[in-house]
Amino acid sequence: MTMQVGVGLLGAGTVGGALIHRLIFESEAVAAKTGLELVVKGVAVRDKDKDRGIDIPAHLLTDRPFEVVDNPDVGIVVEVMGGLDPAGELVKRALESGKAVVTANKELMAARGRELLEVAEAAGVSLLFEAAVGGGIPIIRPLSESLAGERITSVVGIVNGTTNYILTRMVEEGAPYEEVLAEAQRLGYAEADPVADVGGGDAASKAAILASLAFGTWVDGDRVFREGIEDLRLVDIDFARRLGYTPKLLAIAEDSEEGIAVRVHPALVPLDHPLASVRGATNAVFVSGPSIGELLFTGPGAGGEPTATALLGDVIMSARERLAGTQVRSRIRFASGCLRDPAGVTAKWFLRLTVADRPGVLARIAAVFGRHQVSIKSVWQEGRGDVATLLLVTHESPEQNLSASVAGLSALDVVSEVATVLRVHSDEP
Ligand code: NAP
Ligand code: HSE
Repeated sequence: MTMQVGVGLLGAGTVGGALIHRLIFESEAVAAKTGLELVVKGVAVRDKDKDRGIDIPAHLLTDRPFEVVDNPDVGIVVEVMGGLDPAGELVKRALESGKAVVTANKELMAARGRELLEVAEAAGVSLLFEAAVGGGIPIIRPLSESLAGERITSVVGIVNGTTNYILTRMVEEGAPYEEVLAEAQRLGYAEADPVADVGGGDAASKAAILASLAFGTWVDGDRVFREGIEDLRLVDIDFARRLGYTPKLLAIAEDSEEGIAVRVHPALVPLDHPLASVRGATNAVFVSGPSIGELLFTGPGAGGEPTATALLGDVIMSARERLAGTQVRSRIRFASGCLRDPAGVTAKWFLRLTVADRPGVLARIAAVFGRHQVSIKSVWQEGRGDVATLLLVTHESPEQNLSASVAGLSALDVVSEVATVLRVHSDEP
């Protein structure tokens, strides 16, 4: 015997479309495996006449999303429209009216997740968001439940599929940035506004969610330090490769005695590091703690189909809870805490300078680093004469010392340009 639960969707784009296809056209397989008949009762979109490449019965479509939320036949609302407004108020209204909510919206969860989880708890319903981080990779539930007893010290990895896809093709094929970004959009990896991907905002939202769950201290998405990949040039990718590195957009969350630091930025990763071989839209996240050592979660991080699997898992869980009459709690008690000032966070650094190749130049450059307590690990030079390229890698140093060094270098008459400054993510001393 199957049990019926009504599902309403807010959005039928890349992710919502893939989920609707599963719910409508593969419902028998879901019912056979779970005993649940998940019935789509309404689908909100902006444009009801748009060709979606999927046959959604016309009577289900509406351009009034509150109609779906208020539909008494809908027990579970799936929010896949994205953005903060109106998604936030729709989710809140659904929860307040006793409906479970499943969302893929990391921007919303990073901005209002704490508040919405409290609303869900007060209403005795669940708000699930496995699809918000890592596409098809189960990472939210392991962090919130399986690892609830571990004192997690860091969460580090690649959490944006679009930028990893772009970087992979730039590195492997020398493909132009604009061309591969357009391809990532065509493949359904990118956000509605891809600036969120390439500027690091999407990864910052995900980093905030992961840090909040890992450390039990709420981290607001807009407080996460972020730099994107827009300024990465093929010339730097080429120099980095010759020095044994490849660029990756990393999300790094650490909980140490100095406090919590959460940041997103491009970094050069040694070619033999496990993250260096993560290609395309794949995501990979290392979770570390004293008892577990290191866990690696990896898999397809973007795209409609894998994300629909994560959503469907949450829909099935919500349906089971509703039928069992379980009162779901937000489970994690979040403390409030301050994030460390990024200026004090240390990193190893890669710099590309354009310099004059004359006696004494290197000594003057080294003196600037020395004055600001930045220790140089290695130096390479290419070219001769008035325009030579100098590549430097430093040892671990706080961002503020590096910034002071860059200002000092820029003021030297023998340095015509500090062309590139990138962090290096390496386990080497
Ligand atoms: P999308 O393709 O742009 O789809 C958004 C859908 O929402 C569209 O169907 C759109 O209607 C509808 N919509 C937007 N605003 C609306 C409004 N005010 N009223 C009614 N309908 C509205 O986006 P997506 O890629 O599916 O992403 C959806 C969510 O999933 C986002 O939060 C995203 O961050 C998240 N996510 C995406 C991926 C991915 O790989 N794409 C992976 C994980 C999570 P129209 O179709 O009529 O325009
Ligand atoms: N735009 C996101 C990405 C979708 O590229 O990772 C998955 O969250």
